Amino acid sequence: MVDTSDEWIMSRVGIKERRILKEDGLGTSFMASIAVQRLLKATHTDPSEVQMLVCHTVTPDMVFTATSNIICDKCGIKNAWGFDTNAGCSGFLFTFETIRRFIETGQYRKIIIVCGERMSSIVNYEDRTTCPLFGDAAVALMIEPSEDPSLGFQDSILHVDGIGRRYLYQTAGGSLYPASHDNVDKRMHFIHQEGQGVFKYAVVNMADVSEEMMKRHNLTADDIAYLVPHQANLRIIDATARRMGLPKEKVLINIERFGNTAGTSIPLAIWDFKSRFKKGDNLILSAFGAGFTWGSIFYRWAY
Ligand SMILES: CC(C)(COP(=O)(O)OP(=O)(O)OC[C@H]1O[C@@H](n2cnc3c(N)ncnc32)[C@H](O)[C@@H]1OP(=O)(O)O)[C@@H](O)C(=O)NCCC(=O)NCCS
Repeated sequence: MVDTSDEWIMSRVGIKERRILKEDGLGTSFMASIAVQRLLKATHTDPSEVQMLVCHTVTPDMVFTATSNIICDKCGIKNAWGFDTNAGCSGFLFTFETIRRFIETGQYRKIIIVCGERMSSIVNYEDRTTCPLFGDAAVALMIEPSEDPSLGFQDSILHVDGIGRRYLYQTAGGSLYPASHDNVDKRMHFIHQEGQGVFKYAVVNMADVSEEMMKRHNLTADDIAYLVPHQANLRIIDATARRMGLPKEKVLINIERFGNTAGTSIPLAIWDFKSRFKKGDNLILSAFGAGFTWGSIFYRWAY
């Protein structure tokens, strides 16, 4: 479709395959509902037990109704409330930090976070600077209180800087540029990224925040079982791992098979590699994304 090559994509980014939801008439909630249904089955949870469901997405089914409502409806979740969050590729981190606060109140025992993206719906397949990068995915997680406070969520450091809107954006379809023939003609309903500008911010900030988390908790590379990074670019992941002093085997990477699935990529890596985790393993989850948004979560595996 565009003038590119496997060699360019592998050397600059590190992607071989992506998953694409091709069928018309199916949005993010289609994939997200399947993920939630599988989660309910795997955790032996009746839909009536779920108290809250939060969907992170930058590709909601529609501007409103919230995709979280649609997912609840499709999954028969009747006793819950919820909402959508949108923090670009750091979305899982921002949503997890929000949800752990609800858990800490003691009033909530079962909250679902579902991250889903149909990135293919906003990608311009005539733009070689973005079309090889993004893939579609959905992952659902059950968040519950830990009986042992030394396990589970330990800490977070999160940041935003609105300067990012000049480098990575989809301008049309919101209130600033409502849908119009003109906007579509100008391709404003597609994702636009100034790759080098984003790269410079991403490579510094993702490494900085990950190192800051290590220092704050006196963690050495030996103390960390795995870095679970956002999967946007292999070079950004390598730079973060280098700064943290982590050897290759402690860095979980699946960008080659899935591409950049935005806020879904960290839970997707957790799902992909969770058979390796042992109870008590220290995980550092780090991301950088549109906004700009970035951050790091220190999580101790509790299962
Ligand atoms: C997008 C990204 C992979 C591009 O890599 P890059 O090394 O910065 O490439 P550049 O944008 O500088 O482009 C270099 C050249 O490759 C060309 N190019 C861009 N995409 C190409 C493609 N798919 N195939 C072949 N050539 C391509 C450009 O046109 C440019 O050509 P020129 O030098 O003749 O002008 C990289 O910038 C990146 O990963 N950015 C950060 C992404 C990110 O973290 N996003 C946040 C979370 S979503």
